[in-house]
Amino acid sequence: MADVEALKKKAGIEACQFVKSGMKVGLGTGSTVKHTVIELGRRMAEEGLEIVGVPTSLATEKLAIEVGIPLVELSEIDGLDIVIDGADEYDPDFQLIKGGGAALLREKIVAQESSSMVVVADDRKRVDTLGAFPLPIEVTPFSHEATVRALSRLLDCRVNIRMAGDGPVVTDNGNMIADAHTGPKITDPNSLETQILQIAGVVQVGLFNNMCDAVVLAGSDGVQTVLNPKGRLTS
Ligand code: 5RP
Repeated sequence: MADVEALKKKAGIEACQFVKSGMKVGLGTGSTVKHTVIELGRRMAEEGLEIVGVPTSLATEKLAIEVGIPLVELSEIDGLDIVIDGADEYDPDFQLIKGGGAALLREKIVAQESSSMVVVADDRKRVDTLGAFPLPIEVTPFSHEATVRALSRLLDCRVNIRMAGDGPVVTDNGNMIADAHTGPKITDPNSLETQILQIAGVVQVGLFNNMCDAVVLAGSDGVQTVLNPKGRLTS
C-alpha cells in the first residue's frame, strides 16, 4: 500500500510540468491528483508560479484553499488551459472511466471547458478494455430505483446505488451514484455513453471519451508521460 501511495505522489508531482505561469488550471479530484494540487500550491509559494484554479469537487476546493491556490468560477473565465485529474481506468485509446470519487459531473464539466486534459495514474489503472472497474453513473434521487432498472436492462448487468454506511453516497450536486458492473466489456465507449445519457434519470456517466491528451503514469520502473497521438498536447 505504501508503494502505491509513493507512485501516486510521483505521478501527481510529475504532471505539474504541464502547468506554466498564467494558466487557468482545472484541479481534479482523488488521491493521486491531490499531490498535484499540493505541489502547485508549493510552487506558487516557493517558486513564483502564478495560476488560478477551478476545483472539480468540494474536497478539492478545500485542499486548494489550504495550499493557497486562488480559485475562480468557470462562469468568470473563458475556458481553462488544462485540467489535471485522476482516472479509475484508461484504455489504449485514452478513453477513461472516472467517478470512483463520486465527482464525475463536475470533473466532466471542467474537462469539457479545458483545452487539454492530463491524467495522473499508477499503472494499475491501465486496462485493455474498460469496465472491470464498475462504471459510475450520477443519477437523480427522484425515482432512482426506476433509473437503476433502466440502466440494468440497457447494460445487462448488476447496477447498485453506491452506499456510505447506512445511506446512499450523496454527490456535491445532491445526486446519487449508480455503479454498473459491466465487467471488462466496454469496447465502444462512445456509443455506450450516448445510450446511457438517453435515460432520463441519468445526470452524467463516468465515461470520459476523446478528452484525455496524456497520462502521467507511475509504475515500479518510474514515471512516464504517455502522449495520446490523437491528442492536443505535444512533448
Ligand atoms: C473522482 C475520480 C478520481 O479521479 C478517480 O476515482 C481516481 O482517483 P484516485 O486517484 O484516488 O485513484 O474520478 O470522481
